[in-house]
Amino acid sequence: MIRTKNISFSYIEYDNTEELNADDRELILEARESALNAYAPYSKFRVGAAVRLESGIIVRGANVENAAFPSGICAERSALSNSVSNHHNDKPLAIAIVSMTEDGLCDDPPSPCGNCRQVIAEEESRTGNQIKIILSGRNKTMIVNSISDLLPLQFSKKNLRVNLP
Ligand code: THU
Repeated sequence: MIRTKNISFSYIEYDNTEELNADDRELILEARESALNAYAPYSKFRVGAAVRLESGIIVRGANVENAAFPSGICAERSALSNSVSNHHNDKPLAIAIVSMTEDGLCDDPPSPCGNCRQVIAEEESRTGNQIKIILSGRNKTMIVNSISDLLPLQFSKKNLRVNLP
């Protein structure tokens, strides 16, 4: 039997951040501030991430590059490493991500790289909570409900268990 299957997802797009709720607007502002702390001398592409935890605490991260390029880390993983390390049992509800070139805020918001998608997926799996992903640029802001939308058919702990006794 051959089956053709289809995966689709919906996300919300806003022309103006004024249309978002106050919590999400605040998270975007935190991510923008965080982007200013990026260390990106090689790419000159600064990324900021801000994670809102269930308690209301906001944890920030920025990309930190390295002369040995693969040793650098993205903003999203920087923020999530921070929140897991310092607020282990406080579950992330949302992550806002903003990117800047030397000309300022990107017009259209880039979405997270594959490595970061995998790490966000692991955090959803670890906590059992969906993490809202807020991608914000000068022209538009997109809100995705869960990393499963950006990373369908993901590799997860379920796969590792298949061959375990
Ligand atoms: N970067 C991030 O911080 N997050 C992403 O999801 C994509 C890329 C960073 C890594 C590197 O420092 C710079 O952006 C250019 O790739």
